[in-house]
Amino acid sequence: MNIPRKIRKAVFPVAGLGTRFLPATKSIPKEMLPIVDKPLIQYAVEEALEAGIETLIFISSTRKHTIYDHFSSDFELETRLSHSGKPDLLDRITDIVPDRVDRVYVTQTEALGLGHAILCAESVIGDEPFAILLADDMVKNKGAGALSQMVGLYEETGSSVIGVEEVPPERTKSYGIVGVDDTEAGHQAIHTMVEKPLPEDAPSNLGIIGRYVLDPSVFRHLHSVGKGSGGEIQLTDGIAAMLETRPVLALALQGERYDCGSRHGFIEATIKYAMEHDDMRDDVLDHMFAVLKSYGRI
Ligand code: UTP
Repeated sequence: MNIPRKIRKAVFPVAGLGTRFLPATKSIPKEMLPIVDKPLIQYAVEEALEAGIETLIFISSTRKHTIYDHFSSDFELETRLSHSGKPDLLDRITDIVPDRVDRVYVTQTEALGLGHAILCAESVIGDEPFAILLADDMVKNKGAGALSQMVGLYEETGSSVIGVEEVPPERTKSYGIVGVDDTEAGHQAIHTMVEKPLPEDAPSNLGIIGRYVLDPSVFRHLHSVGKGSGGEIQLTDGIAAMLETRPVLALALQGERYDCGSRHGFIEATIKYAMEHDDMRDDVLDHMFAVLKSYGRI
């Protein structure tokens, strides 16, 4: 067993084309789309900070700069808000990331796939285990956040960990799917990984969701996998190659997961997160009630 090292760095790939949200994502990354009043990327960053991450590494495209702007201070806006007598609004934009946390921005010059985006972080990560968060997958949990749960398992076992959830068998072709051994203390050892298999080729119905804690040897494999599904360099293929030399565990995450990369999942998350806001809950529920009624659902 490896001696677990602290997971200090997290990679946030935000350079995808986001075609399912065009035209909204023509000039902004999909990770900047807001759920109620916070962009997706901020929820993911907060989850990483809760898990003890000290360095945030954003892999962004040359065309979209809003992620950098969001995590930088805005002197003019801060000055205006501080003079407006609305300290709560000022807090919302000044407390996004504590000063002790480093932010690193790396450019992926061409959207060649998630595996390629992760390779762009190689020199910043170096030779230490690291986390990856895909901000368009949201996991809402009352207790420990998704990444905290995974870091906990990594610290116990020293093995790489991938977040999974059961998906309907007919939907396997939308996910990376893992084949696993029997359950052991809440997690399972992965023996196979396939990117977007047809239901008849899927080794299980456990779909990978956008959370990973990985051994740095994955970079070596990503260099050699070449293009996979969809003509892109796939992270799943790199991890599948790593499986031959390193154990990788699947952890079914506690919490409700929302696929905010799809329009449907995005709306579901918006409604669910709106319920957390005392000033909105009743109005939203009343509106939903009226809509359901008008469509004859109640
Ligand atoms: P997706 O598979 O969701 O692709 O990427 P996408 O381009 O963002 O969205 P659609 O499918 O066209 O609507 C999964 C994650 O990997 C990042 C995305 O930003 C997202 O967080 N990604 C993907 C990159 O950073 N670079 C890439 O080349 C591809």
